[in-house]
Amino acid sequence: MTERTLVLLKPDAIERGLAGEIIRRIEDRGFAIVAMDLRALTREFATKHYEEHVGRDYFEPLIEFMTSGPIVAMVIEGPEVIRAWRAMQGATNPFEAAPGTIRADFATSNRLNLTHGSDTAESAAREIALFFPNLK
Ligand code: TYD
Ligand code: MG
Repeated sequence: MTERTLVLLKPDAIERGLAGEIIRRIEDRGFAIVAMDLRALTREFATKHYEEHVGRDYFEPLIEFMTSGPIVAMVIEGPEVIRAWRAMQGATNPFEAAPGTIRADFATSNRLNLTHGSDTAESAAREIALFFPNLK
């Protein structure tokens, strides 16, 4: 089924010049980029995005990291893209991620793990509406 997901290139991806490499993988896979924007997140906005993680021990450092520099937010579209993009990212912890995934190939820790992808259709809808409220 054709669906959409929210992708974030986190501050480490932009800082390290990995945006092109990651976008290349999305294009090579045949997914369509239907929205894309370079922006800085406020604490409030990052907290809304990660609201389900409020109270976890990693939450504060996560918000610090996500507001430490610009990010690229994208909406990508294609068959089974929610699951497929999470497979392309690899596991949250890059040292558990499968070889050939973005996180296994480039990420350095389970916080500095380069990308975000929505985990369900419900979170994709919520996150896309948060980042791109005017997207049709
Ligand atoms: P989570 O939704 O579990 O991972 P994913 O990004 O793979 O969907 O967690 C969201 C982010 O929170 C994760 O990308 C990085 C951060 N995080 C940590 O810093 N430490 C942790 O132990 C976990 C689980 C997440
Ligand atoms: Mg998640």
